[in-house]
Amino acid sequence: MSPLPLPHVSPLERGNGIPLYLQIQRRLIEQIRSRTLKSSDPMPSVDEIAARFGVSPMTARQAVKSLCDMGLVYSRQGKGTFVSRTKVEKDFRQVLSFTDEMKMRGNAPGSRVLSLRRQTPAAEVRKALELRAGEKVFRLHRVRYADGREMGIECSNLPARLCPDLLSVFEPGSSLYQTLIERYGIQLVTATETVEVGRATAEDARLLRIGRNSPVFLLTRTSFLEDGKPAEYVKSTYRGDRYKIINRLGRFKPSIAAE
Ligand code: GLP
Repeated sequence: MSPLPLPHVSPLERGNGIPLYLQIQRRLIEQIRSRTLKSSDPMPSVDEIAARFGVSPMTARQAVKSLCDMGLVYSRQGKGTFVSRTKVEKDFRQVLSFTDEMKMRGNAPGSRVLSLRRQTPAAEVRKALELRAGEKVFRLHRVRYADGREMGIECSNLPARLCPDLLSVFEPGSSLYQTLIERYGIQLVTATETVEVGRATAEDARLLRIGRNSPVFLLTRTSFLEDGKPAEYVKSTYRGDRYKIINRLGRFKPSIAAE
């Protein structure tokens, strides 16, 4: 079977700091998720991807390899690369920013900064970020919006040494993750996130415009760099009536290529 022609995808945005291979990876994931590329379909070849996006074969190969690493596609020697059957759903969860998540859902992301400070971390933050004694953090406290509607409150902590001039470069209303990539080349690649259910405090209720004690999701996330070092510790409170947590589960298969 010859590979499918690459269906319509949006062009890459050059100069926005997001590596090209990552942008291609996201577009291909979208194609798989929307089932434009279906299970067992052949993936476009590296040359086709390179030509379609106007990138080097090396960049195209890096994008395909990242999908392989996520288990979304697999290679058969001499035959090409195919969309995985079993792990497609399971591995969809990526370290996405609020901005990316909202854009992928077709909503306009927004935020209101309540405070951004350089400060001494609380013990919990120091522990999660494995900070040395005396190290400072930037603490960014925001209300997040989708199409102008309150979605949640996020309180992010970042080691100050990683982004020393964050106070002067961060534009209120912009994406934190985008700033980290563009200004400091910091890419958060993995995260551990816990979800609990809670009730809105008086302050949550005021900021999110819900009744006091309304149900909310309480998320705690530690995000890590490529080398495994923690770089972000975030506590978030999301409106229970506007948020849905989806866990995509799959049956673990040790090796798809060996099917
Ligand atoms: C998500 C994560 C947060 C992260 C935020 C960054 O909401 N749960 O941990 O801080 O995205 O979002 P943005 O780049 O839109 O500022």
